[in-house]
Amino acid sequence: MSAAPWLVVPAAGRGRRMGADRPKQYLELHGRPVLAHTLARLHQAFPAARLCLCLDADDRHFDPAWVPFRDWRRVPGGAERADSVIHALEAIAGEAGERDLVLVHDVARPCVTVDDLVRLHAQLVDDPVGGLLAAPVADTMKRDDGAGRVRATESREGLWHALTPQGFRYGLLRRALREAREGGIPVTDEASAVEALGQAPRLVAGRRDNLKITHPEDLSLAALVLAAQQASPSTTEEST
Ligand code: C5P
Repeated sequence: MSAAPWLVVPAAGRGRRMGADRPKQYLELHGRPVLAHTLARLHQAFPAARLCLCLDADDRHFDPAWVPFRDWRRVPGGAERADSVIHALEAIAGEAGERDLVLVHDVARPCVTVDDLVRLHAQLVDDPVGGLLAAPVADTMKRDDGAGRVRATESREGLWHALTPQGFRYGLLRRALREAREGGIPVTDEASAVEALGQAPRLVAGRRDNLKITHPEDLSLAALVLAAQQASPSTTEEST
């Protein structure tokens, strides 16, 4: 059995696109906040992992009772998602080894399955670069002309949706995110920062229902997905 990974969960976003009265990680799904569902899935897959949870310094909604991990710490969020992740990596600088595997997972993805988490980890443990859960694009892709009309149909051949978790060695990830910030390169995921160093992260095919709660309709969709997954235990328990 390989060592448990470090987990970084950026949860410092305000989630303005939801238009809700609180950040989306605190909206309820089946009577529990999104954040509690996400942490529970991660804990089922990696009960011995060490967790860094990035939270807004002014967060008034968080309750530590929702954290099932024994070894965890709270880290202040940054201006952008990548800044929150950098804060987490800096917080564990004295403890994490350069080659330790760090999995970063958006708090807004509570439907990630234990199967996908365990499979991703298994594929990254010996990978020299690292990688991410991803799903091949299924829809026909259109590019707009900026005025609400189609300018072009883009080929979907070889296109993937980048999901999370994304996992990289501690030293590589920290360097990649720092250099992207110093170089003014906008990064919305860890992989793009690693790509900017000339590396090619591994794509690990994951389930399409690992959706990110972003818009109001996503919440009811996530509730349906969680209910369906509960009825199919292999998605919520590690299969042996
Ligand atoms: O807003 P979006 O859904 O793209 O955010 C992705 C993840 O990054 C969410 O889990 C959110 O809480 C987190 N985030 C963060 N710090 C920020 C912005 C977003 O931790 N400054």
